[in-house]
Amino acid sequence: MKAVSSRRYVTLAERVTHTPEETVLFGREIAASFQPPCLVLLEGDLGAGKTTLIKGIVAGLGAAGEDEVTSPTFTLVHEYGLEGRVFHVDLYRIEGARDLATLGLDDLSSQAATVLVEWGEKLGDNVPLPCFQVRMEHQQSDNRRILIQRVEA
Ligand SMILES: Nc1ncnc2c1ncn2[C@@H]1O[C@H](COP(=O)(O)OP(=O)(O)OP(=O)(O)O)[C@@H](O)[C@H]1O
Ligand SMILES: [Mg+2]
Repeated sequence: MKAVSSRRYVTLAERVTHTPEETVLFGREIAASFQPPCLVLLEGDLGAGKTTLIKGIVAGLGAAGEDEVTSPTFTLVHEYGLEGRVFHVDLYRIEGARDLATLGLDDLSSQAATVLVEWGEKLGDNVPLPCFQVRMEHQQSDNRRILIQRVEA
């Protein structure tokens, strides 16, 4: 993998949602920005809403219905759509560089696919240049702040 030393972050969208349904809708709205090939790293604590947002993104890309999108916490990677158009990766249980190598993320991101990675911060700089970074924050009660940034070299 190629290490990337300096990156510039340009804000594409920012939203505070108040229900899971609003988060799914926001995912549908922004999905068109994530046309393949595209690597999207999602960051945020447990329960921040990463999987919920991805339901909307996958549905918005037309790869699967939102109810078909579930967390790949144990399987690590889910594939949606014909010819692997969308990959959904969860690094929560991944530890260390050897595990990352077994995941084959390089292979995934070299395909003409949209690759959505939960716990993307675990990759550090050890990643091809992502297209987008999504930061999700749990605010009070059911409010979630969602920031979408384009990443440039
Ligand atoms: N505004 C909101 N947006 C998204 N989810 C919300 C919102 N309000 C409440 N929730 C609840 O928060 C939880 C979010 O879970 P989700 O699995 O999407 O988080 P996650 O970031 O993927 O967590 P994990 O790190 O465990 O994978 C769900 O139970 C959902 O119903
Ligand atoms: Mg999740």
